[in-house]
Amino acid sequence: MSERKGAAATPQTRLELTESVFFVGFMGAGKTSVSRKLARTCGLAAVDMDTYIERDEGRTVSQIFAEDGEAGFRAIETRVLRRLSEGNPMLVGCGGGVVTTPENREILKEGGCVVFLRVTAREAKGRISDLSTRPLFNQLDDAERRNQERLPLYLEVADIEVDTAGKNVGAIAREVKRELRRRGVLREVPTQ
Ligand code: S3P
Repeated sequence: MSERKGAAATPQTRLELTESVFFVGFMGAGKTSVSRKLARTCGLAAVDMDTYIERDEGRTVSQIFAEDGEAGFRAIETRVLRRLSEGNPMLVGCGGGVVTTPENREILKEGGCVVFLRVTAREAKGRISDLSTRPLFNQLDDAERRNQERLPLYLEVADIEVDTAGKNVGAIAREVKRELRRRGVLREVPTQ
């Protein structure tokens, strides 16, 4: 059965989120791709935090890092995360470092369902088409160390954990969807 058929269920129903779903995990884990795929196949709204920040600021993430430093970027990230967590339920692809700020971890825990997409830096590197857009992804060793340092933080906020090793976007999205439906975060409602 195709994704699309499975998503819409019957013409009289649609899928809705009962709370927002935040995707966390290291750079290249697939947060943006998986949330977009789920949005398409389930008919849900999705937003990517880095894209949102870039539009809001009129600057790229790399420019913000260069001009305001990591601390400046993190302050913007917290403001945007809070704003998104207070809006209508949607799928939110977070930046990989969102969990490094204690305030963000509290917002995530209270703001909805958090999906942790686990990945190794080696696999992530192969998935990122342009590493120059990721100011904190330098050498593979450094990236893996950073990934390991963040692991307890990802686990602290996670409601759902999916190991993405060797899986494509479609397979990961199906796994997440199954789990969201099982938990009642994603449910079928009659169309008006
Ligand atoms: C970052 C991850 C990036 C972006 C910024 C910092 C990080 O987002 O927010 O470069 O600290 O891991 P992605 O995880 O979407 O690449």
